[in-house]
Amino acid sequence: DDAKIGVKGLVDSGITTIPRFFLHPPQTLSGLTATPDPAFIPTIDLSGLYNSHLRSTIVGKVAHASRQLGFFQIINHGIEPDSLERMIGAVKVFNEQPVEIKARVYRREMSSGFAFLLIDAFFVRLGPRLPELDEIPEILRNEVVEWSECTKKLGEVLMELLCEGLRVEKGRLKELSFSEAPMMVGNYYPYCPEPDLTMGVKSHTDPGALTILLPNHIGRLQVKHGLEWLDVEHVPGALVVNIGDILQILSNDEYKSVQHRVLASSSDEPRVSVGVFFHPSEKESLYGPLPELISLEKPALFQQFTYTDYNNRWYTKELDGRSMVNHYR
Ligand code: SIN
Ligand code: FE2
Repeated sequence: DDAKIGVKGLVDSGITTIPRFFLHPPQTLSGLTATPDPAFIPTIDLSGLYNSHLRSTIVGKVAHASRQLGFFQIINHGIEPDSLERMIGAVKVFNEQPVEIKARVYRREMSSGFAFLLIDAFFVRLGPRLPELDEIPEILRNEVVEWSECTKKLGEVLMELLCEGLRVEKGRLKELSFSEAPMMVGNYYPYCPEPDLTMGVKSHTDPGALTILLPNHIGRLQVKHGLEWLDVEHVPGALVVNIGDILQILSNDEYKSVQHRVLASSSDEPRVSVGVFFHPSEKESLYGPLPELISLEKPALFQQFTYTDYNNRWYTKELDGRSMVNHYR
């Protein structure tokens, strides 16, 4: 039963070809070797955030990247390099435990909307309160608690910058409670014997408002730009930030929620990543373009919707590379 042993279990069992279930049709595998253009996904230095002159430069860079690419990396974001390493290390060690121990925590059924995921993933709700501490596996409990605190603070900082970039009141997104109930996902991509026939994570856009991603040094994350796939270069100490569908809609199409994917790992070392997803915590409220971004010249480009409706659509559709935002246009 593959679901119980996880992908790492399969690989450890000594497979040299990948199970048919994981094979991808050739059209989704196109462009596996991207034109390397590392300068393209900008790395933005957040030091100087509280100096008003430097801050407006930072806001400009964040807004530009969010409009053009939907992705950027940040350095000097206030989370210590030590904490980054501890978090990655904990997810790695967790996944390298015997399968019987991991099986209790794995929630592969949550991945049912993402058939073909070549990863083992586990989810922790970070808010409004953390789960009871004994529900978080001890092996990464301290790290998760610390990561929760750090990323919630950073999420709020980023939301303020994104608001300033839209010229709306800087607490506007925070007020919508996007920073209150993030979901953390720890991903483990084992060595893949046939990386050219499959994908780590198939192309998709993120459903929430904003994602903060901590990848380890293996790389393999790619972002779609026009017809090209851009590699997200590993920048030591950096976090990757991307705009999700909800923020594309709220910003009335100013910011873009962009397709991305993770190539299967051909490295002997596993790829490990930790995503924190900020999304509406009020599932039944109506969301749509912010009224202050609607004008005669630029009417609302999306209809209003509830996050429940949105989520149901997102999880029941195959990740087909298309963004869900078009459903509400
Ligand atoms: C994702 O986009 O869902 C996964 C990203 C990653 O593991 O780097
Ligand atoms: Fe994603």
